[in-house]
Amino acid sequence: MTAVDFGTGPFPHPVEAGAAALFDDWAAAGRDRSMADGHRDVTGQLLDNWALDAAHHVLDVGCGNGWAVRWMLARGAGAGAGVDVSAAMIARAQGLRDGGRCHFRVASAASLPFAEGAFSHILSVESLYYYPDPAAALAEWARVAAPGARLGVIVDLYRESPATHAWIGALGVPVHLLSEADLPALATAAGWTRATTVRLRDRRPPTPPADFAPSPFWPDYGTYLSHREHGSLALLASR
Ligand SMILES: C[S@@+](CC[C@H](N)C(=O)[O-])C[C@H]1O[C@@H](n2cnc3c(N)ncnc32)[C@H](O)[C@@H]1O
Repeated sequence: MTAVDFGTGPFPHPVEAGAAALFDDWAAAGRDRSMADGHRDVTGQLLDNWALDAAHHVLDVGCGNGWAVRWMLARGAGAGAGVDVSAAMIARAQGLRDGGRCHFRVASAASLPFAEGAFSHILSVESLYYYPDPAAALAEWARVAAPGARLGVIVDLYRESPATHAWIGALGVPVHLLSEADLPALATAAGWTRATTVRLRDRRPPTPPADFAPSPFWPDYGTYLSHREHGSLALLASR
């Protein structure tokens, strides 16, 4: 793991406050929907391994507009919760919520407002590397995980995928550049078992070159294609 000293502090930690401000802006600009769309296929591949049923209580950490919580309910989970440090994202999630089987809270990934053993499945999509202390978050998730609970964490920004390293500057907030070996090591140290990683590649056709618009995140088409080839990195573990 890259040594970055984020310091310590009360909620919101300065790093969390920076992430909250960034994602409040993204929510205001409607980017919660494009994020959800971008992450949907790889998240679906991870969820295909979870046979969700009515007895399951699922949690999504860094849930954005809550799309994955709603999707896990549609896939059979009995109840769901989502937390995010961005109040604007949580407001969107609450607005999109249908029915009483899910709820959304503003909270830090490292300090969850839930009882020990509350969840059978914990998901986190493209969120872990923003945290001041990813190890502390993984330990907190272990606290709220029931015995035998499943963990699924997806990141696109990781050491072995150089195509996404431009994001480190483009995002404008501090991030961790974790490696494929870091994730299971961190999870195991945090109390998770059978921690492993898998690459998940979006099965949808890539944007054609004619429709590609360079941005600070994707400076050129080759970088975008390289990301598609490297895929997302998923950490899978059990409690
Ligand atoms: C790239 S977005 C992904 C959102 C959502 N998972 C999705 O796939 O659409 C990362 C999310 O993590 C949230 N986040 C960042 N740091 C956090 C923290 N320390 N605690 C909780 N959420 C955090 C952000 O506010 C943001 O909504």
